[in-house]
Amino acid sequence: MGGEAEFGLYVHWPFCLSKCPYCDFNSHVQDSIDTEEWRNGYIAALRWFAVRAPGRRITSVFFGGGTPSLMPARLVAEILHEAARLWPFAAHAEITLEANPTSAEAGRFRDFAAAGINRLSLGVQALDDAALAALGRQHTAQEALAAWEMARKTFPRASFDLIYARPGQTPDAWEAELARALRLGAEHISAYQLTMEPETPFHKRYEQGKLRLPDEETSVRLYDLTRAMMAAAGLELYEISNYARPGAECRHNLLYWRYGEYAGIGPGAHARLVDETGAHQALRAIRAPARWLKAAQTGGLEEMRPLSPEEAGMEYLLMSLRMREGMKPARFAALSGAPLPEGEIARLIKQGLLARPSPDTLAATDKGRLVLDYILTQLA
Ligand SMILES: C[S@@+](CC[C@H](N)C(=O)[O-])C[C@H]1O[C@@H](n2cnc3c(N)ncnc32)[C@H](O)[C@@H]1O
Ligand code: SF4
Repeated sequence: MGGEAEFGLYVHWPFCLSKCPYCDFNSHVQDSIDTEEWRNGYIAALRWFAVRAPGRRITSVFFGGGTPSLMPARLVAEILHEAARLWPFAAHAEITLEANPTSAEAGRFRDFAAAGINRLSLGVQALDDAALAALGRQHTAQEALAAWEMARKTFPRASFDLIYARPGQTPDAWEAELARALRLGAEHISAYQLTMEPETPFHKRYEQGKLRLPDEETSVRLYDLTRAMMAAAGLELYEISNYARPGAECRHNLLYWRYGEYAGIGPGAHARLVDETGAHQALRAIRAPARWLKAAQTGGLEEMRPLSPEEAGMEYLLMSLRMREGMKPARFAALSGAPLPEGEIARLIKQGLLARPSPDTLAATDKGRLVLDYILTQLA
């Protein structure tokens, strides 16, 4: 490892002002947070990883959550400072922070930029106040627009998230909303179809028949519409839910999908490390914040295990087929110790689900990307 290889760092901040009823991320609402304790936890976990992954060069950092824009900017600065003491940073390392667009948080964007954040990912979600209220968001559309303007002025790179295929949303309504969103001139947008995550209040309402989602046909129409409108605005789909001007893709997420190596600190964070023999290790941190804090001195881990070659190959396939650029069958063979089944590939190509964009790559087609699970079961 080391040299020109990419190495990412994920930092999980597990707190939010309130819990959105659709969300199953590892996020909690807590009145008082002891910043000093969290600082010590993050620093200890970073040092633990530095011992196990020496000689790397950090190419991206991602502060995710929860709501990392609630972190004190000084804590963000201290984590970055310690990371830079432990590993060299690449000259143009991408350093992203996820933010909620409440006015209080937008007011602190400058402090985050001063702390070293150079890319902001803003959770706009919807541009309609009734929809935002239905999603349980703590901000209005106007606040989201103001936060977006502030983000663009403050950070060299910025992106925003939208949630569509919401209850009762028609293709016409989404078309108008997305057209407005595109006029904001973003170079990167993540557009997620609303999913019903088990154990969430939305899921419960859905089970009780109180919350209706667009049917399968409508949701495919919404997806196609999204893709076409984004493309017309110069934002190309590069992963199932991610669109960017060429060159403006999120490098940290690309690292995950290309099955690169990364450390992960904070409750519930995942990590993948590769040893000198090329063997992959899967690491997963304890999810409960208080328990993670107690264990941070020893990495805060719930699980750390070597992946078998077959597992590593499958993980690579699973991640890389999400991207439009697809995957390298040669890399799959090197990871898993066996090539992909040629007969199955030929059949999936014939069905229009897979394609070979170049002789050494294999990618899901637009149609295939909608049935990735099926493709994976055929190739497993
Ligand atoms: C950790 S949150 C982003 C930061 C911030 N906490 C926020 O909500 O704005 C990651 C993103 O996942 C998306 N998301 C979360 N739950 C979802 C769900 N059930 N369906 C679709 N998108 C979801 C939202 O767009 C959200 O912005
Ligand atoms: S969507 Fe964002 S703000 Fe809402 S609960 Fe999840 S992580 Fe927190």
